[in-house]
Amino acid sequence: MKNILLTAWLMACAMPVLGQIVPQPVKVTAEEGVFSGTLTYEKSDLNGLPENAYRLTLKPGHGVLEYRTEEGKNYGEQTVAQLRQKYGKELPAQTIVDYPAYPWRGLMLDVSRHFYSLEYLKETVRLLAYYKMNRLHLHLTDDEGWRIEIKSLPELTQKSAWRDLDRHDSAVIRRTAVDPRIKLDPRFLQQVDGRLRYGGFYTQEEIKDLVQYAARYHVEIVPEIDMPGHMMAAIAAYPELCSTGKPSWGSVFSQPLCPAKEEVFTFVFKVLDEILALFPSRYIHMGADEVDKTTWKQSELCQNLMKQENLKDEHALQSWFVERVSRYIKDHGREVVVWDDALEGGISTDINVMYWRDWKANIPYESVESEHQTIFCPGTPLYLSRRDSAMYDIYHLRSLQELTVKRKDLIKGVQANVWAEQVGNANWANLLIWPRLLALAEIGWTPYEQRNWENFKRRAVDQKAYLKGLGMDLAEESPFLTVVQTPDAQARGVRFHFEHEKINPTLYYTLDGSLPTAKSKPFTDQLLVKGPALLSVGILEDGKLLTPVFQRPVDYHKLTGKKVTYLQPWNKAYPAAGELSLTNGLQGSDYYKDVNWQGFTNDLEVIIDLEDLKNLKEISLRFMQISQEDVLMPAYVEVSFSDDGKNFKPFKTIQNDVDPKQRDLVMKDFKASLKGAKGRYMKVLAKNDTQNQFIFTDEIIVH
Ligand code: ACM
Repeated sequence: MKNILLTAWLMACAMPVLGQIVPQPVKVTAEEGVFSGTLTYEKSDLNGLPENAYRLTLKPGHGVLEYRTEEGKNYGEQTVAQLRQKYGKELPAQTIVDYPAYPWRGLMLDVSRHFYSLEYLKETVRLLAYYKMNRLHLHLTDDEGWRIEIKSLPELTQKSAWRDLDRHDSAVIRRTAVDPRIKLDPRFLQQVDGRLRYGGFYTQEEIKDLVQYAARYHVEIVPEIDMPGHMMAAIAAYPELCSTGKPSWGSVFSQPLCPAKEEVFTFVFKVLDEILALFPSRYIHMGADEVDKTTWKQSELCQNLMKQENLKDEHALQSWFVERVSRYIKDHGREVVVWDDALEGGISTDINVMYWRDWKANIPYESVESEHQTIFCPGTPLYLSRRDSAMYDIYHLRSLQELTVKRKDLIKGVQANVWAEQVGNANWANLLIWPRLLALAEIGWTPYEQRNWENFKRRAVDQKAYLKGLGMDLAEESPFLTVVQTPDAQARGVRFHFEHEKINPTLYYTLDGSLPTAKSKPFTDQLLVKGPALLSVGILEDGKLLTPVFQRPVDYHKLTGKKVTYLQPWNKAYPAAGELSLTNGLQGSDYYKDVNWQGFTNDLEVIIDLEDLKNLKEISLRFMQISQEDVLMPAYVEVSFSDDGKNFKPFKTIQNDVDPKQRDLVMKDFKASLKGAKGRYMKVLAKNDTQNQFIFTDEIIVH
């Protein structure tokens, strides 16, 4: 009850008063006048607000920052810094009460694939703090380079911090010819015996300096030593650590450490001893992603260990490794973080899970159902190294919201990751990070009910100017168009409204699939489409069409707006628009993640009440196959009819004829004539033979 009242009260507050700050405060009360003096600080219990809350009271002639902990004080100071940035000396009088929505608000930098200077890490820490984020996760080791001095194992950096230029470097060099901004940082290139080598590492002194610097800003540096996979750099220096004694590639990933060799644990614990001494962080990340288990299958030592420990497969062996290393970390008073791959063989509930594999969208649900603290960094949209990651998607991360409502206690927070294969220098990293990270800062800080996309966009304008003022090249805004649409029975059409990152742009559209131009029809708020049409909507800026352009088939057909009853559920990771999805008049693009596609890991089985519809001519529904992502065709689609909605008589069966081994995208329309069909109710069954992989469809079209 208290929460509901609190929420209602907060909603009633004048939200945009302080509208230029990212993230947005929980509560702002504006007052008359300005504050221009010196702030006083007071420790206070803040009437039981969270430990990291603060209250900033600015009145003419009187300014106080109240806080319970140093962390809260830091957040208050960052707010003052943001206000001063915007207003200078005279700050508008107001009271701000504020605290974060989630405890973990992070950014990960992959310093293994490409290396960034210590100064850059510090600069990043300062900006994270400015936007009230609190974790910098460093991916310190991977196949491509070992980046942290370990004194007891000097060869890790003597040998494995350096490499001959690899295929990623070559790709970056090729792209440099097109866009020089991406170039490899020359400070990390060296001629050694006539060979050009790339590399670098942080000394322990440098790490101590960074950790101390970050502590001042209440940013925790979370080290990741990725194991047992992604260990090629270490195995190159100490080949006895892998099962075959020689570094090699498996079918997809590099050969991992051998969990059946005791010297592997001696090695891991030596590394961890120094990591634990260097990083006072509450969390240590041990990776555990993408482990190629081929050599474990072939190793007699591994197979013997599995028998001895009663481990049923290599996933269980991976879990056994994770548990043993985790125990060591926990025995030293720290918590463990792993990538979500580690869930496959089952792991202790006190291990924190980072959800990244967006194509397995069930993972956050499984992670929470198995009682793991979960950090959200799904590849789309939170791998900022992917250029298609859009602020709108970050701001509206659906699974985060859903699971927060269900189990807030298990949602530790959010993180964005920059994987550096194609990121040759720190300026380019910045271009990928900013301004998109602003959207993450806001969702990590501001409760869902208080977020406001339009308001955020306006506040982000000032922040972009601030970041540019620091000398940064910023990514261009993506005009990314997201659609809100409803069938309109009276107008016999579908009404559209679009969301995007631009402020008040004019949108142009065509209905024939051609790209919009300045001569196309404009609209600002709503658009009614009757269909069938291939709708294209885009934003024109100075006469230039921005990409991406929204393009989807639209059709106001006989079933549009009709109620659909589900006999089997959709997979909750791909609900599309829920019960409205299959009859809303809108079809998907050619990718199942565009939110127009509904996914099923069981059969699709639905009943549609046709009411008084007569003279049905044809039914058609599309499925797609991307077998490498576990997206398959149904075995068949069966259409049945009934008068009472209970006893159905099969009318047509449409068989699949797409080869399941075809790896690339295939689309198929399952289509049949409905001439002669009778009955008030129609049932559509799409058979999912696998009962665990996905089938996806976007619309059941009947003419
Ligand atoms: C990952 O992207 N392999 C965690």
